[in-house]
Amino acid sequence: MANKSKPIVWGVRREGRTLWTRNAVKGVSVRGERRKRDGRIEWRRWDPTKSKVAAAILRTRAEQSSLLPTPGSTCLYLGASSGGTVSHIHDFVCGADNHHSGQLVAVEISPRMVRDLVKLSDRRPGLVPVLGDARKPEQIAAFIRGKANWIHQDLSIADQAETFVRMATSFLAPGGIGLLSLKAASERSSEGDDNSRFQKAEQILMNSDLVLEERIDLTGLEEQHVVFTCSSCT
Ligand SMILES: C[S@@+](CC[C@H](N)C(=O)[O-])C[C@H]1O[C@@H](n2cnc3c(N)ncnc32)[C@H](O)[C@@H]1O
Repeated sequence: MANKSKPIVWGVRREGRTLWTRNAVKGVSVRGERRKRDGRIEWRRWDPTKSKVAAAILRTRAEQSSLLPTPGSTCLYLGASSGGTVSHIHDFVCGADNHHSGQLVAVEISPRMVRDLVKLSDRRPGLVPVLGDARKPEQIAAFIRGKANWIHQDLSIADQAETFVRMATSFLAPGGIGLLSLKAASERSSEGDDNSRFQKAEQILMNSDLVLEERIDLTGLEEQHVVFTCSSCT
């Protein structure tokens, strides 16, 4: 694997059109993904058709590492579902037995999904599942150790850009990076096509205190989706 693949950050490698993360729980797949050994290290396939973060990394025109949190950082994930993408972020932010001392707070409103997250966190120290509403900072503040270096929001709700600005304003550390995954169909604004909905969200980000870095089109990997990357300078 080492010969054919290229490291992006510690614990993340790119090989052709897919990504791999260094499995923090050897011998275990989270949602049936392929695993492979490379000496004493085990890698898990991070499928870009099932994870918008992985898709954005493959599609960005910026440095791929600039979209990812670094090992040991503090991360906030809004809309964690059952933890597919969360598990890959955990692989390199925390690592086995959280030897990087990272923290990944994963917020999800569905109790059924949170049950899966709790199970996942049993073997993944550093992963903190939170049953709560990701639009409400006060439901999250008690669980996160200070500000986040990295935020990803992936909520199937309307008004996602406004929510993202509010949450990033509350939690993103200076110099931190925020990713907003946006599905056109979830946006309330009915006038216009997908592109005008994305444009409206882009305008909201540009009018905020965040710095809009890039709009990444995921067509071909996740239809009707874009990922906006933003940074915080305050
Ligand atoms: C598209 S899925 C997320 C997929 C996940 N990010 C992944 O890559 O595996 C959206 C999730 O957001 C959750 N959600 C919707 N509204 C929410 C809210 N207000 N607060 C927290 N979670 C919410 C849904 O229950 C759903 O699990």
